[in-house]
Amino acid sequence: MSEPVIRVKKLAYVRVGAPDPAAAELFLNEFGLQVAARTDHAIHFRGTDAEAPCYVLSEGAGTVTAIAFEADSAENLATLSQLEGASAIETLAEPCGGQVVRLTDPVGMQVEVVHGRAALEPLPPSPSHPFNMNGERARIGGFPAVERGPSHVRRIGHLVLESPDPESLYQWYHERLGLTISDAVRLPDGAPQMIFSRLDRAQEFVDHHVVGFQFALDEGVRVQHIAFEVGNLDDLMSGHDHLKRRKRKHVWGIGRHLLGGQIFDYWKSPFGVIHEHWTDTDLVNESHEAKDCGIAEMEDYWGPGPSPGFLIARFNFKVIRNALRLLKARSQSAAG
Ligand SMILES: [Fe+2]
Repeated sequence: MSEPVIRVKKLAYVRVGAPDPAAAELFLNEFGLQVAARTDHAIHFRGTDAEAPCYVLSEGAGTVTAIAFEADSAENLATLSQLEGASAIETLAEPCGGQVVRLTDPVGMQVEVVHGRAALEPLPPSPSHPFNMNGERARIGGFPAVERGPSHVRRIGHLVLESPDPESLYQWYHERLGLTISDAVRLPDGAPQMIFSRLDRAQEFVDHHVVGFQFALDEGVRVQHIAFEVGNLDDLMSGHDHLKRRKRKHVWGIGRHLLGGQIFDYWKSPFGVIHEHWTDTDLVNESHEAKDCGIAEMEDYWGPGPSPGFLIARFNFKVIRNALRLLKARSQSAAG
């Protein structure tokens, strides 16, 4: 396998366009992101971790317009800027500064690779408490530390990129940015339904996935969801109640994923992009052996199945054709 051009360090931020930025800001606030800075054209949101903003909101069509990764060094940016189609190294004229090289992936998504952004001071994290579980008694004479209200988003964790050809899109990210396969979900004919990729940080343990490359039922192209780590299970549940009371659109959860291990909860924003809260991810490193999972084995540890609002971003005749193909593959691989 070819050596990647660089190996990125982490997912840095997304740029999101919403037709009504004020309504979007209200949703993001209820979701648990906090405003770090405002400029003439954008609002920069952050989590509680000591990091630069992870979410840049502007007026737009209701899509993710760019995804950004952080590089280890300025030399990495110089190397990337030599690639065909890459921008020169530019200064990021944004609140936390830094430098950027811009690329465009094969489906037209803007990919920014940044270095040198200044980290913000951490904010108070979610409260937490010891548990009296598994026969152990760790909270003696104490009470649960739980705050009612929005979850405490710590940081951006991963996103899922939908396209008609996840295999070749994964290859593009692997060759340039070093993303590497953790696990894949495949149909009996080998076609991928989902490729879970992670950062390649050798022996360092990282989240099971940072980008999921998913086959789009409508064969369109989009960031299907963006996922954020929250404090803990109580924090996730408090946030769930908060969003429910505000009549936000719940599309999947609560459950625990088979691939990745997270306890998850998915909400559709008023501008259409799905946002996920999760806690308790699997961590893997280079010793993890990637496996192919049949579509019929894709059963979460617990929790309900996804709603149509999670599965279908846009309805066209391809959705019916591809859904039938998936159902057939599911029964074939279950029988096999
Ligand atoms: Fe996710």
